[in-house]
Amino acid sequence: MTENSEKIDRLNDLTTFISTKTGVKGLVDAEITEVPSMFHVPSSILSNNRPSDISGLNLTVPIIDLGDRNTSSRNVVVSKIKDAAENWGFFQVINHGVPLTVLEEIKESVRRFHEQDPEVKNQYLPTDNNKKFVYNNDFDLYHSSPMNWRDSFTCYIAPDPPNPEEIPVACRSAVIEYTKHVMEFGAVLFQLLSEALGLDSETLKRIDCLKGLFMLCHYYPPCPQPDLTLGISKHTDNSFLTLLLQDQIGGLQVLHEDYWVDVPPIPGALVVNIGDFMQLITNDKFLSVEHRVRPNKDRPRISVACFFSSSLSPNSTVYGPIKDLLSDENPAKYKDITIPEYTAGFVASIFDEKSYLTNYMI
Ligand code: OGA
Ligand code: NI
Repeated sequence: MTENSEKIDRLNDLTTFISTKTGVKGLVDAEITEVPSMFHVPSSILSNNRPSDISGLNLTVPIIDLGDRNTSSRNVVVSKIKDAAENWGFFQVINHGVPLTVLEEIKESVRRFHEQDPEVKNQYLPTDNNKKFVYNNDFDLYHSSPMNWRDSFTCYIAPDPPNPEEIPVACRSAVIEYTKHVMEFGAVLFQLLSEALGLDSETLKRIDCLKGLFMLCHYYPPCPQPDLTLGISKHTDNSFLTLLLQDQIGGLQVLHEDYWVDVPPIPGALVVNIGDFMQLITNDKFLSVEHRVRPNKDRPRISVACFFSSSLSPNSTVYGPIKDLLSDENPAKYKDITIPEYTAGFVASIFDEKSYLTNYMI
């Protein structure tokens, strides 16, 4: 095939994909057997070379039991969190206090939403009037090349919660219930993280890290050729902190020591990761680490990401490295930012090679 006819094919695929408006799930429902080229990721990007000398390397994402947080062992919990936030940027938590039934119900409701008829979902496609709940089946078209193997919806929860009627019936009560628990548990996490920084436990809450929350709920349809594409390209998160609930399928990977390490599903666990704003305010003490999702052949995968970040909603608060963490030996590494300003640039370059945070380095 000539280069030009390849381009035309790609354009035709894209045009069909956009005009059909049935997302990636629509391709799978149409029983395609090959992944269209607009989803193809170069094999060099997908390859993952296990470090040759792994003897001294721990390649397991830390798992932290929070059941002990209100006992005399709190300092042990805090030190584990400090270690994980400094060295991995990722950890899994168990005994976090969010009831299992609530976790199951939100996953089920995300599935319910995505498995509805396209006409129902398409009532929630993006428009200009700042809807709180948006279904996106071609998000990556504008942000990434190649496209990712997923459909997603977003819902802005805090500081201005949606009216219940703005959330589709398929997931209304589950979204309200789950995010109520996420806000409560978020407060606990920010206390533990403040302590892990050696600061007063209310520090992060005081600077409003807990104020904004939006959720991004993914549906990764089964992929006929999982070795050709990605569910989500590698990226860091535009948040202070992200709380991720994944189902039992697996596919999430985090970059650690230049190696893509799997984040294995643990029933009842939540995945916590540090976002760009936390790396900035901690002056690089806590790390916002790159991660990605690999698709699978057999079954759809569901995940629910909750980002503590007010994102694009107006917020004039200025953030920079926390003064109490700075000293002559540890001067500020970042300029001050506002969240909306950062988000605008971040979204435009989300899947670029370089982390957007580097633009704000002093
Ligand atoms: C994200 C993300 C991972 C997943 O939404 O930012 O990294 O497992 N999601 O869906
Ligand atoms: Ni992410």
